[in-house]
Amino acid sequence: MRKFIIDQQAEDIEVPENLKLNTFLKEFHSACPHPQCSFGFYGFAFGQSPFPVPKIVQDALIQNADKGSYAAVPGIPELREKISDYNRNYFGLDVDASNVYVGPGTKELIYNLLEVLHGTVILPTPAWLGYLPQIRFQEKNFHMLPASKNKKISIPDFKHLALRLHDRQKILILNNPNNPTGLVYSRLELEEIADICREQDIIVISDEIYAQTTYYIEKFVSMAKIYPEGTFVTNGLSKSHAAGGYRLGYVIFPQNSDNLQKHFEKILATEFTATSSPIQYAATAGFEKSKELDEYFEVTRKIHSIMSEYTYTALNNIDGVKTTKPEATFYLLADFNFYTSDFHANGIYTSQKFSESIILHPYHTAIVGGDSLVLERTDFSTRIAFVDYDGAKAMGNYISNPPKTNSERIEFVRTNAPRLVAGIIMLEKYLEDLKNKMVHQLDRRIEQKS
Ligand SMILES: Cc1ncc(COP(=O)(O)O)c(C=O)c1O
Repeated sequence: MRKFIIDQQAEDIEVPENLKLNTFLKEFHSACPHPQCSFGFYGFAFGQSPFPVPKIVQDALIQNADKGSYAAVPGIPELREKISDYNRNYFGLDVDASNVYVGPGTKELIYNLLEVLHGTVILPTPAWLGYLPQIRFQEKNFHMLPASKNKKISIPDFKHLALRLHDRQKILILNNPNNPTGLVYSRLELEEIADICREQDIIVISDEIYAQTTYYIEKFVSMAKIYPEGTFVTNGLSKSHAAGGYRLGYVIFPQNSDNLQKHFEKILATEFTATSSPIQYAATAGFEKSKELDEYFEVTRKIHSIMSEYTYTALNNIDGVKTTKPEATFYLLADFNFYTSDFHANGIYTSQKFSESIILHPYHTAIVGGDSLVLERTDFSTRIAFVDYDGAKAMGNYISNPPKTNSERIEFVRTNAPRLVAGIIMLEKYLEDLKNKMVHQLDRRIEQKS
């Protein structure tokens, strides 16, 4: 059999956590001998919106299935125009369509930005698990910036770090609204960050993929409003339109960046030529203002908010558990460090082991551990995604009978997201078992398997 030699860089890169988790879940699900396993697992791990893709977008995709030609590298003009309108309508940004570039997902475009922009990267943590492998793969210099107690960028720490870096240009990756915390930066906080950026020659990749999920949308302020000359905004269809599988993202360049754009375009042309044409037409419908889409955004963010409130309250009612209180997204960051000595007593010393032990029988609960969020391996914080429910059904029920009072909202969660409710109860049981030193046998079973 032929032996292939693997490129060193590819070998060095870690498996992205979503792939790792997928493999892990498959392996353990099929291997578990208990009949209860047939139901699968409580899914707190995957960051995927549960709603259907808006009908208007689906229809546009079908109608444009005949678009077989390559598109222009930056994207089709209609789509770039609509993205510009969308950003004006929803986020008050004055965007010239010529500054918009379309790509197969924001993940790819962030990678391309890191390729074209010189400089040391500043990565606030906890962070979305996608950034670090990209930075490492490109062998860029980088520094972590651990969050302050409120789980946002600490202004003094940011300033301190920036002063230590002597590059002519530095790159801050700002993720607002934030995955995994669900927190949204206020205008004042952004202004404080922008002041340091101006003083210290820091440009910003502002990953705003969750902007449209902000529960009270008027609370969201784009960094491009505060620091227009130095901000690259990335966004796309994946979260707002529940269309991660369409693979469509965009980046908005700052004004007066023509020279840089020329080089960026070369990179896009070299790496992917252009984004799928039918998908671009579908996205054009998705970024065009319409009553249907307005309602879609409104209803989906209301449901995210209801699920968030329930998850937040239920988790914080568990002894010793503390979480962030999301204002956007479908995640929160839950801190289980109160149980550190119990984890240790059960032979669990890392957050990776925590997620491995809780996926097993009888818990069947999938979470993303702290080290996948660029936290210390020994930090028992996890991201909890509250999306394990039938989004189409929940939307229908919300539209026909929107819950108004607190108890109606709780009832809405119980009816529409029973697995979310049961999953939190299971998490509580796991913590009880930890206290009673009943988790360690399961952990040993993992060791035997791996
Ligand atoms: C913060 C953040 N940025 C970017 C992405 C990737 O988005 P896309 O599907 O557009 O590549 C994700 C997906 O989970 C994310 O959570």
